[in-house]
Amino acid sequence: MVPIANLAEIPQGEGRLIEAAGTHLAVFHTRDGIFATQPDCPHKQGPLADGLTGTNTVMCPLHDRLFDLRTGAGLNTDCAIKTYKLTLHEDGTILLNLMTAIPLLTIGYQSARFPEVRDALVEAGTKLLIDVRAIAASRRPGFSKRLLAGGLAEAGIDYIHLQPLGTPKDGRDAARRGDTATMQRIFRAHMQGDRAQSALEEARALAVERPACLLCFERDHTTCHRALVAEMIVGHTGQALSHLHANIGLPQPAATSSDWSGAV
Ligand code: FES
Repeated sequence: MVPIANLAEIPQGEGRLIEAAGTHLAVFHTRDGIFATQPDCPHKQGPLADGLTGTNTVMCPLHDRLFDLRTGAGLNTDCAIKTYKLTLHEDGTILLNLMTAIPLLTIGYQSARFPEVRDALVEAGTKLLIDVRAIAASRRPGFSKRLLAGGLAEAGIDYIHLQPLGTPKDGRDAARRGDTATMQRIFRAHMQGDRAQSALEEARALAVERPACLLCFERDHTTCHRALVAEMIVGHTGQALSHLHANIGLPQPAATSSDWSGAV
């Protein structure tokens, strides 16, 4: 839980745009209590914090779409909004349940170019990319460690490589053969080691500070070890987990041996 405001700062019947934990929230004080939602309307990004509130509703100020603040459901529209859990302390401090505000994301760059991966990360609100490849190298433009960190920095995303969270070579070989079960068995055994456990602790701490995304090679998370890393993180933090897909709009380059050897 992190303090994000005091109730006295938000008159009853009003909303406020608040920045907390690397993200923005619309926080409302109504007769029914306090509520938090995503800041922008899903229709055309109307500023929800400026909307007209009811007992437990908010109406977007741009085109009057109405949302239930308790569930996020649209009441006169098919769109819905995200809601976040708040707790009110007796001294008026509003506390945000971080786990509802910061999901953990993952992405694979197979079949995608760097701009497509970057755009997917930006669109999802990513603030930190955690590279979980055993070898952060690729012949594909933009995906080796230094170029990746530089390209992400230009988009306002920090980068860290946690090498011990990569799969050992025999696990990568199994993944390359399509033997996901063997890869997973090898990776789980690898995770028993001290270096891997220490890197996992670091990843858990980073993932609750701000919106983070795990990066590996394979597009399909179900055949990639990053899904296991993600489960090991959210199993402790309680965060929601989402697997992103880059929007592939161009003819795609083939995987190179460096991707398979380093990034599975
Ligand atoms: S932007 Fe909110 S209803 Fe159109």
